[in-house]
Amino acid sequence: MKRKGIHKPTIEDAIEIGGIETLHPGGFALTKRTAELCKLKEGLKVLDVSSGRGTQAVYYAQTYGVEVTGVDISEEMVNFVNQRAKENNLTDKVKFILGDSQKLPFPDNSFDVVINECAVGIPDNSQAVLNEMQRVVKKGGAVAMHESTWIKPISSKKKNEISERYGTTPLEFKEWIKMLENAGISEIISELEQWSKPEMFWDIRKDRKVTSYKRVMTIPEKTRTVFRIMKQYGIKGIFKVFENEKIFFKTIFNGELGYCLFKGVKR
Ligand SMILES: C[S@@+](CC[C@H](N)C(=O)[O-])C[C@H]1O[C@@H](n2cnc3c(N)ncnc32)[C@H](O)[C@@H]1O
Repeated sequence: MKRKGIHKPTIEDAIEIGGIETLHPGGFALTKRTAELCKLKEGLKVLDVSSGRGTQAVYYAQTYGVEVTGVDISEEMVNFVNQRAKENNLTDKVKFILGDSQKLPFPDNSFDVVINECAVGIPDNSQAVLNEMQRVVKKGGAVAMHESTWIKPISSKKKNEISERYGTTPLEFKEWIKMLENAGISEIISELEQWSKPEMFWDIRKDRKVTSYKRVMTIPEKTRTVFRIMKQYGIKGIFKVFENEKIFFKTIFNGELGYCLFKGVKR
């Protein structure tokens, strides 16, 4: 869906501006589960689509010995994470390049596994993202994604409003399955219930347990984020983020929005 950008800065914008390391519901537990389902092991070539701050790519390389390429549309993220890889002597195992997930800069059948953590719904054309993930994975290779998923019937007007405030476009479970199938991905397995608990939306930090949505960021991180939002969007931007956060979390507490992990295979 093409969002109009009428509620900027969105929740996604604020999280990205904040600079924290894990940018998806389910946090690191979900990253580990994704690796497990994709059976990551030494020698495999993995593509991490919309790799963000590279936390997951680095984890995959260090834990499973896989070779990871990350691709992201944000120059700031790509530069940051390439620098981090250099500092940690990881450049033979991970590399990050600039690119659009709707038109991936790789030939067909380039990777053994292709993963997208929380970023299929962000670009205008989610179907194009999945088509591209299917195109660049080898035959028999695993494709995995996790994304926000409507779990109660709500009006399209409300869906559009939440998508605008969130900065991504959730779909219903059966709509995600259809999109994956349309992309040519089969043998789809999914995990919805365990990743849809409200705490999954805030317990996202790698090194500490978060017990409330108000505590995702530490005070210094919040201060830095507020300062950056002010600089980019002015004072109105701060009010907008608080408004978005309040309305967004209401849909989580109401049980309208959940989160789902999908894994399939290219046959
Ligand atoms: C919610 S974050 C997820 C980052 C990372 N996968 C994670 O889970 O921590 C979304 C990421 O998608 C990237 N992104 C947004 N639109 C994109 C596009 N069209 N192509 C590639 N990356 C995109 C953003 O720059 C951001 O890094």
